Amino acid sequence: MVLNRGLFITFEGIDGSGKTRQLELLTADLKKADLKYLLLREPGGTSISEQIRKILLDRKNTEMSAETELLLFAAARAQLVKQIVEPALAAKTIVISDRFFDSTTAYQGYGRNMNVDFIQNLNDFATQGLQPDLTFYFDISVEAALNRLQNRTEKTDRIDLESQIFMEKTRAGYLQIAERNPDRVILIDAERAPEEIYKDLKLQFDQAIDSVKC
Ligand SMILES: Nc1ncnc2c1ncn2[C@@H]1O[C@H](COP(=O)(O)OP(=O)(O)O)[C@@H](O)[C@H]1O
Ligand SMILES: [Mg+2]
Repeated sequence: MVLNRGLFITFEGIDGSGKTRQLELLTADLKKADLKYLLLREPGGTSISEQIRKILLDRKNTEMSAETELLLFAAARAQLVKQIVEPALAAKTIVISDRFFDSTTAYQGYGRNMNVDFIQNLNDFATQGLQPDLTFYFDISVEAALNRLQNRTEKTDRIDLESQIFMEKTRAGYLQIAERNPDRVILIDAERAPEEIYKDLKLQFDQAIDSVKC
């Protein structure tokens, strides 16, 4: 299938909301449909951004200040956008990112009580104004997310060690972001079975693809 431009889609939600699971379902379908796509995860995706990721997630870095953390996320993203996302979109690729700037607004802004307007300006600076065409926000209660994570085998990182209150503030932040960006952000009830969630997601995704088909 040929597209007349690239498409930038981001997946957002607290840990345990099911982003990775839904990405697996979507990318399986994209492969079948022979669509040109690129899957990214934040922070990371370039050599520099992966080096920054290590610093951000290292459990030994207990002394990291909230400001340092914010700027490191922004720096990793700035590099990713310039080096990977912009060129891929210019080549009419579907770029899908597991987290993007809404994570910074939700976690650092709402979760850590830093100035949300400033963070949004910083996000714009880091991405040179690039916005996702579509964002899927997977909404789930903190309790349900934590229940799911208890069964997960991945190692806990520095950010996973945060308190339940931090997660609640982050979720509330995501809900604000969804409310303020109704044209971009699609709120998905993520407490359902994976297949049910995916049905909703795929419908919206296909509509987005239809809008850029040649
Ligand atoms: N809809 C769902 N219902 C129940 N469990 C789920 C669902 N989606 C994902 N899970 C499980 O919950 C855990 C977290 O899901 P994951 O996709 O890794 O979330 P995230 O990437 O948002 O942190 C995993 O063990 C996963 O298998
Ligand atoms: Mg994940």
